Amino acid sequence: MNSQRFVRITGWGKYLPERVMPNSELEELVDTSDEWIRARTGIGERRIAAPEESTCTLAVNAARCALHKAGVDPRELDLVVVATCTPDFANMPATASLVQEALGATRAGAFDLNAVCSGFLYGLTTGSQFVLNGVYKRVLVVGAEVFTRILDWQDRSTCVLFGDGAGAVVLQPTNEPGGLLSFVLGSDGSGACSLYVPAGGSRRPASEETVKEREHYVKMQGREVFRFATRVMPESVQQALELAGMTANDIDLLIPHQANVRIIDAAARRLKLPDSAVFANVERYGNTSAASIPVALCEALEEGRVHAGDTVVMSGFGAGLSWGTAVWKWHG
Ligand code: ACO
Repeated sequence: MNSQRFVRITGWGKYLPERVMPNSELEELVDTSDEWIRARTGIGERRIAAPEESTCTLAVNAARCALHKAGVDPRELDLVVVATCTPDFANMPATASLVQEALGATRAGAFDLNAVCSGFLYGLTTGSQFVLNGVYKRVLVVGAEVFTRILDWQDRSTCVLFGDGAGAVVLQPTNEPGGLLSFVLGSDGSGACSLYVPAGGSRRPASEETVKEREHYVKMQGREVFRFATRVMPESVQQALELAGMTANDIDLLIPHQANVRIIDAAARRLKLPDSAVFANVERYGNTSAASIPVALCEALEEGRVHAGDTVVMSGFGAGLSWGTAVWKWHG
């Protein structure tokens, strides 16, 4: 054990597949329109992984950027956490082990974490505990998804919403106050079937029938999830702020999960935040699940929207149902 008391994000990186799929392309697949998708979701386009890409390769690309930024050699990593609900292999091994091998992180432990779209928040807060308790000095947390591989391209209510991507951060200890000030993690499993993939797990293993019934694809009760999201995001932000002894006035930048611009706007209104204090890039990527918050964090940093001493609040929600919010004082 050592005396380090704070955790710092020392590196960050993102990777988005090259292929852009604009809404106009979806108009050819299902009965939808660019106008409908933009008006109801704020999404204009999304990225689609190339056939040879997988969650592991996306994660590795984002991780390499984050490690480079942090000046950390992969061989120095203590732990690799990959938040994903679209792992390379359905059951085993963990994608984190594939990422650990591809990076050459020979000293690191590795595990996957599945909290779907809240996954990065669960990963960030979990990874931070290993640093804060003094056990580990270099932890890599990645949120990565090839979500488009579990989409039913015949289902207009889901296929227009999601995209592929990865984002990563490196966590290290510091004596300088800041970093993770507070967090809230939550779950309401009564809503499990509001957003799920019915088959392929132990409850309903793959069979000819499950394939025929298209049960290996995402099914969603959109309105239910919408109601849940617009309630839980501002509530958990308020709870996390309270734990940090703060109010919404203290937020310099809210980085919400990028699922739907209407959900983001509703949360901003409830928290009485000006547009300048809310980050959104859902227009360009759609919902990339566990990747959405780390990708947004990277872009906020690239755009100079995060400064030393800023209070950055990251908040996610998703299948589970699950949610997570972290209040982070940026070290700079
Ligand atoms: N194009 C055109 N029409 C459509 C489409 C589409 N792509 N999808 C649905 N519609 C139709 C519906 O059939 C419905 O028609 P009807 O009135 O004749 O029945 C009409 O549009 C309105 O449908 P609603 O579902 O009421 O539309 P809503 O305004 O609720 O928007 C949406 C739907 C965008 C899915 C919204 O409910 C939503 O964003 N929900 C939250 C989804 C979400 O964030 N999920 C991710 C969670 S994160 C995770 O863990 C993965």
